[in-house]
Amino acid sequence: MSATALETPTLDVSDLSVSIGGSRILRGVSLSIRPKTVFCLMGRNGVGKTTTLKAITGLMSADKGGVKLGDTDLSRLNAESRALQGLGYVPQGREIFPQLTVEENLYVGTVARGRKPKPEEVDRVFTLFPIIKEFLPRKGGMLSGGQQQQLAIARALLTRPKLLILDEPTEGIQPNIIDQIGDAIKMLRDEGEMAILLVEQYLDFCKELGDDFAILERGRVAAAGAMSGLSDELIKEFLTV
Ligand SMILES: Nc1ncnc2c1ncn2[C@@H]1O[C@H](COP(=O)(O)OP(=O)(O)OP(=O)(O)O)[C@@H](O)[C@H]1O
Ligand SMILES: [Mg+2]
Repeated sequence: MSATALETPTLDVSDLSVSIGGSRILRGVSLSIRPKTVFCLMGRNGVGKTTTLKAITGLMSADKGGVKLGDTDLSRLNAESRALQGLGYVPQGREIFPQLTVEENLYVGTVARGRKPKPEEVDRVFTLFPIIKEFLPRKGGMLSGGQQQQLAIARALLTRPKLLILDEPTEGIQPNIIDQIGDAIKMLRDEGEMAILLVEQYLDFCKELGDDFAILERGRVAAAGAMSGLSDELIKEFLTV
């Protein structure tokens, strides 16, 4: 539809380059994420997916390139300010606090912002992930990997992000929880309050959930477009091992 083509993207990344210890890791990555859509960033191990996310969130500094969230230029802001502008980030490997309770983990992000989530926001994450409500008093470290992933997503959601960023949420997780995370992503997309940037190597998960995709190869975007256009040739060339 032409009307959507003219919409300001939720995230606009232009010509992002990152070096680590003198070697170029990202070589001019550009992406555009449309409002209310799920964008899958794909590619084999070590191509620069996590580095792209860290450069977007400000956890890694870029040599050059721009990052815009809606009409706001994030390029010169630090990671904390970018989060406050509306980036919700769930890192690869989840990184919850094992010694804190599930409840404490859940509110870490909002406490840091000096804002208590509204009861309906808390109810929404309990609806998405019922296990969290059940396990509120337990230590985070007692949860399974999949449950920790759900907790990390819930924590990010309570900050009410404009863009939810997930780095390989299915990695090492049992199939029934992968299904629940997939259902949650669908529900969030259908609610239409945020766009979602999903880094994933699980192809079927991407195909089912993604509206658009980009494939990275050695720090560059090798292919991008609508998920319906992800061909078997591209899969064979850039995704299968
Ligand atoms: N701190 C670091 N020091 C040196 N090299 C790094 C560092 N972090 C990443 N790299 C290198 O940068 C490249 C991209 O890494 P990155 O973690 O972004 O890949 P990825 O696509 O997320 O991989 P994976 O699918 O395994 O998570 C890799 O070659 C990696 O070895
Ligand atoms: Mg990674």
